[in-house]
Amino acid sequence: MALFSRELGIDLGTTYIRVAEGNQIVLQEPTVAAIVVEEQKMVAWGQEAQDMLGKVPESLEVTRPLINGVIADYEVTEATLNFLLRKLAGPLRFFGPHVMITVPYGVTSVESRAVHEAALQAGSREAYLVQQPLAAALGVDLPIGTPSGNMLICLGGGATQAAVMAMYGIVAAETLRKGGGALDEAIISYVRKKYGLIIGQLTAEQVKIRIGAAVPQEEEQTIEIQGQDQVSGLPRPVSLTTGEVVEALREPLNEIVETARRVLEKTPPELVSDIIDRGVALTGGGALLRGIDKLMTKELGVPAYRVDNPTLCTAEGAARALAMYPLIRRNLPTV
Ligand SMILES: Nc1ncnc2c1ncn2[C@@H]1O[C@H](COP(=O)(O)OP(=O)(O)OP(=O)(O)O)[C@@H](O)[C@H]1O
Ligand SMILES: [Mg+2]
Repeated sequence: MALFSRELGIDLGTTYIRVAEGNQIVLQEPTVAAIVVEEQKMVAWGQEAQDMLGKVPESLEVTRPLINGVIADYEVTEATLNFLLRKLAGPLRFFGPHVMITVPYGVTSVESRAVHEAALQAGSREAYLVQQPLAAALGVDLPIGTPSGNMLICLGGGATQAAVMAMYGIVAAETLRKGGGALDEAIISYVRKKYGLIIGQLTAEQVKIRIGAAVPQEEEQTIEIQGQDQVSGLPRPVSLTTGEVVEALREPLNEIVETARRVLEKTPPELVSDIIDRGVALTGGGALLRGIDKLMTKELGVPAYRVDNPTLCTAEGAARALAMYPLIRRNLPTV
């Protein structure tokens, strides 16, 4: 029997919830819940609920409780965290865990209080909050405890955060409430305008992941997808190339680049020279987009690189933040 509380780092993302304990990822599930509409009761969450998306009768609703990195549906978020903690606890449920849970940089106190409250109501014994870029930087071992500049860009599904950190704190940062989902939307609207074809979000995401890129590639790939003709409503296939996806993504990627550029502009010059030496770390699922490192390097004039574990580092860093809480507490969001 465990007489101590478990210590968990929870990365509460718009598309995925990931949980780390020590250096291990112990859970990774889509941030999706299935609810019985009439009773407002959650019947499935995570992958099981995700598999129901778009395939359920009216009595069931499949929803995402977070939008653009922040809680949009408090009850569903709390219920999801509750299911998650129960799943992790197993039969031994004497003490609730201590959790360090992530929030995007710059959220309002109302938004961060909602996350804190949901974590406690879901069964945590104690809950602390950490800004996502700080957690990610700890997860990839950037030397942010030193008086030197470290820059990281989190390219999430619902938000993009660029931050410069030193002495365990955030020196300059900005959050754009747009992420990979906005890239999918851009592909949808490109296909609608160019081919008069309507495609779904899942198809658009597949296009992005399979053949997409941030800059033109030497090797063009193609993919055939099925859509629905805008006029006749009938199904029709279309073939898309990498070059077309690059074109479709140009505008939203530009906004992402501009966000990072503004953060660099706000950074004190001494720290900028460190960043030029060390480069800019790219994390989050969006860091997996082909050529995103090249685009950032070119547009920012500072070398950018994808970290080794872009999607998991934030949860790992949250667990680490919990272990070093006394050292970093004064730089964490208060509730
Ligand atoms: N190979 C890939 N190429 C491009 N994009 C990808 C790839 N793999 C995943 N993604 C995108 O990454 C996004 C999810 O990233 P991540 O898991 O970091 O988000 P999140 O933490 O749930 O969201 P957020 O941090 O914004 O709240 C999705 O938009 C997904 O389409
Ligand atoms: Mg994230």
